[in-house]
Amino acid sequence: MFKTRFLDLPPLLAAGGTVRLPGSKSISNRVLLLAGLSRGTTVIHDLLESDDTRVMLDALAALGCRIERDGRVVRVEGTGGALAAREADIFLGNSGTSVRTVTAALALLATAQGGRFTIRGVPRMHERPIGDLIDALRPLGCRIECTVKEGYPPLLLGDGAPHALNLSAPIRVRGNVSSQFLTGLLQALCLTAHAQDVVIEVIGELISRPYIAITLNLLARFGVHVRNEDWTRFTIPCDSRLTSPGKFHVEGDASSASYFVALGAIAANAEAPLRIEGIGSASVQGDIDFVAAAQAMGANAVLAKDWIEVSRGTWPLRAVALDCNHIPDAAMTLAVMALYATGTTRLTNIASWRVKETDRIAAMAAELRKLGAEVVDGDDFIEITAPGKWKPAAIHTYDDHRIAMCFSLGAFNPNQQAVRILDPQCVAKTFPDYFETLFSVVTPQEHGVPIITVDGPTASGKGTLASAVAQALGYHFLDSGAVYRATALAAMRSGTPPDDEQRLAQLATKLDLRFGPGQIFMSGQDVTETLRLEEVGALASKVSAWPLVRAALRTLQLSFHRVPGLVADGRDMGTVIFPGADLKIFLTASAATRADRRHKQLISKGISSNIDSLRAELEARDARDQTRSVSPLKPAVDAMLLDNSALTVEASVVAVLQAWEDRRPFKET
Ligand code: DC
Repeated sequence: MFKTRFLDLPPLLAAGGTVRLPGSKSISNRVLLLAGLSRGTTVIHDLLESDDTRVMLDALAALGCRIERDGRVVRVEGTGGALAAREADIFLGNSGTSVRTVTAALALLATAQGGRFTIRGVPRMHERPIGDLIDALRPLGCRIECTVKEGYPPLLLGDGAPHALNLSAPIRVRGNVSSQFLTGLLQALCLTAHAQDVVIEVIGELISRPYIAITLNLLARFGVHVRNEDWTRFTIPCDSRLTSPGKFHVEGDASSASYFVALGAIAANAEAPLRIEGIGSASVQGDIDFVAAAQAMGANAVLAKDWIEVSRGTWPLRAVALDCNHIPDAAMTLAVMALYATGTTRLTNIASWRVKETDRIAAMAAELRKLGAEVVDGDDFIEITAPGKWKPAAIHTYDDHRIAMCFSLGAFNPNQQAVRILDPQCVAKTFPDYFETLFSVVTPQEHGVPIITVDGPTASGKGTLASAVAQALGYHFLDSGAVYRATALAAMRSGTPPDDEQRLAQLATKLDLRFGPGQIFMSGQDVTETLRLEEVGALASKVSAWPLVRAALRTLQLSFHRVPGLVADGRDMGTVIFPGADLKIFLTASAATRADRRHKQLISKGISSNIDSLRAELEARDARDQTRSVSPLKPAVDAMLLDNSALTVEASVVAVLQAWEDRRPFKET
């Protein structure tokens, strides 16, 4: 997951290959709660692992459910609706489904059995309305207190004492703000239909019906068959009991699929379509209808039972006018597709956007405009006309995962502008690996993926600096010294003499290296520490002087140049391997400073050393690196010289990041 302050997406050209979707959020959170409330144990496969499911799992644990996780399988022991804990403080982050459904269930259980629970979330959750649900529950006798503002979380459910529930009259709920209120009632009231039918009536319009269809489908899997009379009256038959289905498999998330369906429509070639696995025509999620909307805009899509293949059909895309009530979440993706369409796209009936993770109508309008689009927005609609010329923009994500994900599609713009996504980690709400998944199927524009090189003499601190810069930008990191050190280690282990250029080059070609975060593996073995040994470094300095060895290691080093970008450290990164790099740093420090640093480093590892001989060794190595005939150590002509003798690591990192920012086209707004 990218935990950086921002992520710059380089201009992208094409997409193709296969992605596997994370589990559906809507299904995961419904199944978790139903599993917790039902009788028996539910073994859930492919549950979504994200912020929203984590808060639901924590809530179940706080209520005394036993939960075990084994890789991608989660076992939930149901409570059968009997409260195992009478009091708990339940934090549900910004998960709308969780807050609405847990509130309904706990309000009923706390009132009937005697309990006291608080429900709270992040500050935005405390601005998201829940009054319609409270208004439906209070007439049943539920004790619900809004502790800060009437109609909004935080809530206090129950007063500790048991009270009878009045379930004889139909329970009335409004359906025009969020369908999650009805979902919450349907799931919770299944626990109460012992002696009589329980009837729920929807007042006024019911929005987002497909989400209610998911709820009814899942209730049926848990043994409760709700009678649905034209989406206005729902009857839970007398004697209904939530019973675990035993095993449950969560299908892929249809809303998450929308980004890849759009990606295929924008950037995949018909000969090599983008394949999306984990969802298809058999899906119970309403957002699967996004595929039809994308087709209307020009996508070429084939829908099989559990996969979708998409490629570019009509291009540019066609603008559409669409009532999006049935696909409120995925419709945001249409708004970004509209940037690639001829004409004006009009998305209507989307008032629910205003009460989601953020006010999505306002947010989408503001960010689309930043890219250069013409946007008109109203209470329940948005109209988008593609930009004449795209502008580079830093996209605010408002802690809203869907804004981050749908705007990533802006990187295919014809003006080859990079797109900056601020706070990219917000995708963790439903799709923690979204960007990694995206990057695995895209081809960048030629010369579009940025490179920063950090060259300099041994012990100048370039490795520390380069890896910190890479981390701050979310870029790949190449420690090129490590590939020479690995060659040296392979030579030591195989007894290859340091003057046998041919055999050393063969060793270099065959190196089986794998780089993990902060770790290096050679032939499957962790060699991170071994590679740092002084004798390995000294031999690397000799081995690296051979032209054939350098040539053999070139392809391996070039392979690090991948989306979203690269920071490479070494001796010849800016001069030989990546001469076209976008920013070149040449880092130096006096020999005395470097010897002192190395001395302290060795002491901290419990290795004794002599500072004078360390300095002599450093100077000898500098001389060798600088005077060798191939790729001698020297600053590139266009390098920025940075002497860090008197700088802290942090100050050096700030200096490089600032130099980088000066070259970027973004002005944060
Ligand atoms: O940066 P380091 O100490 O890990 O590098 C080990 C040796 O590898 C160094 O003495 C010179 C060589 N090297 C090189 O020749 N070219 C590079 N790009 C990186 C390292």
